[in-house]
Amino acid sequence: MTKRRSQHWFGGQGKDAFIHRSWMKNNGLPDDAFDGRPVIGICNTFSEFTPCHVHFRALVEHIKAGVLEAGGLPLEFPVFSCGESNLRPTAMLFRNLASMDVEEAIRGNPMDGVVLMAGCDKTTPSLVMGAASCDLPSIVISGGPMLNGRFQGRAIGSGTDVWKFSEDVRAGIMSEQDFAHAESAMSRSPGHCMTMGTASTMASMVEALGLALPGNAAYPAVDARRNRIARMTGRRIVEMVTDDLRPSAILTRQAFANAIRVNGAIGGSTNAVVHLLAIAGRVGAKLGLDDWDAFGRDVPTILDLMPSGRFLMEDFCYAGGIPAVMKEIADMLDLDALTVTGKSVRDNIADARNDNPEVIRPRDRALTPHGGIGVLRGNLAPDGAIIKPSAASPSLMKHRGRAVVFEDIDDYKARIDDPALDIDETSIMVLRNCGPKGYPGMAEVGNMALPQKLLRKGVRDMIRISDARMSGTAFGTVVLHAAPEAAVGGPLALVRSGDMIELDVEARKLHLDVSEQELARRRQSWLPPEPAMRGGYQGLYVDHVLQADRGADLDFLVGNRGHAIPRESH
Ligand code: FES
Repeated sequence: MTKRRSQHWFGGQGKDAFIHRSWMKNNGLPDDAFDGRPVIGICNTFSEFTPCHVHFRALVEHIKAGVLEAGGLPLEFPVFSCGESNLRPTAMLFRNLASMDVEEAIRGNPMDGVVLMAGCDKTTPSLVMGAASCDLPSIVISGGPMLNGRFQGRAIGSGTDVWKFSEDVRAGIMSEQDFAHAESAMSRSPGHCMTMGTASTMASMVEALGLALPGNAAYPAVDARRNRIARMTGRRIVEMVTDDLRPSAILTRQAFANAIRVNGAIGGSTNAVVHLLAIAGRVGAKLGLDDWDAFGRDVPTILDLMPSGRFLMEDFCYAGGIPAVMKEIADMLDLDALTVTGKSVRDNIADARNDNPEVIRPRDRALTPHGGIGVLRGNLAPDGAIIKPSAASPSLMKHRGRAVVFEDIDDYKARIDDPALDIDETSIMVLRNCGPKGYPGMAEVGNMALPQKLLRKGVRDMIRISDARMSGTAFGTVVLHAAPEAAVGGPLALVRSGDMIELDVEARKLHLDVSEQELARRRQSWLPPEPAMRGGYQGLYVDHVLQADRGADLDFLVGNRGHAIPRESH
């Protein structure tokens, strides 16, 4: 048997092994902790600035118990925690930084396998990206969603109802006092957003990819089964080390195709697009933006969860979770795909059942027959833009309207409620300089709130186009991720208020009705915007970030750099 990786630190005699073992013994570890048993790193994203992970100090103990039961040695380590609700200018700016932290922490330390504790939106992709670039045996455990929000006798969803309530306040149909009360009613237990926002989507994606145990996505954070699956995850990673089951064996093109189809079935977040593209880049799996349309287009959205539908993650858990969804669309999946269980998807979902056909609908009663993500092309986004048809208004899916352009997010905020703003419900709102380089970090500002004067008239949706992302908890006819972005001179930079734009989702077309000659003329006078910050991590990010159609990873982080033993430190 080949020597375990950790034994290159802890095994043998002499000065170096003395140093590695001696200092670890100040943890209280006995001699036999270093006898060659698998050392399992537990990558903990706990932070009090990441409220979605507030329970991770307790959750990690269940993982450790599982590792010990299976004969491994659990060693916990912290990494950068990308909390969505607090980090500015946007948590997405730090996803790649966190992935570097994860990758280097895994490679530089004496571990044989790793458990990735994820939850809040960007934590899941950052951990998986870093682990994929190392390619040691890895398994994800999600922190789980919050319990359903409850307010004035009805369920309310993280994010989704914030957008609705704030528009109701702006429209004058909800009081400031009720708005304040809703604040504490929305987040009433540990856990991440309980709508099908980005956190729940990415927890579902890792399960669909085969990187987490079946059932991982839906158990609420405070459900005892969350602790139980944490324990089982701890046990399983020890076996994965023995079997040398690594991400590169699991993250195949087939696995990504399965995940994209599951994303369509659950009405998942548009953010999954950039995250899965970035993860695929780390393992060298062939995946492009158009695969999102090709794999997902015919998948019906059968999960009736906010923001596309009515229910919340707690209801999804009781209905059967991701295994039940995968069983409903089993004929669309590659059932032979390998997973962290060491078994195929087929084996994993064999006993799954749908216990609530209102929440997980049968296909003949789908929420929308064509879920998934629409990939739009045209002279306004030559490298693509996306839309989530299930969250859009059917009446706007084919529309021609007059552009109302906002130069950046500050311009938007300054003018949106100006009574003199020349805009009506047929207009198309365009926001630029909010992409990967422009914001920087491609913030979730694409679902711009509508002008107050139109809200008061009862208008609730308009077409919005940007190079930004939108929160997975948001909804509306929102075209996102336009590439190339305005800040690098993409066509979005050349639109002027009054230009006509055509959106045809069925034809996957996004067209700016301005002649090539006129666009070339405008391009001559275009100047790139000043970066928000020079130097530091933000400078590195702006210099190296790839466009949205490449997952917005940093160019030098793409690829699998493996987990060869680094040279000794002393
Ligand atoms: Fe953390 Fe929504 S803010 S998951």
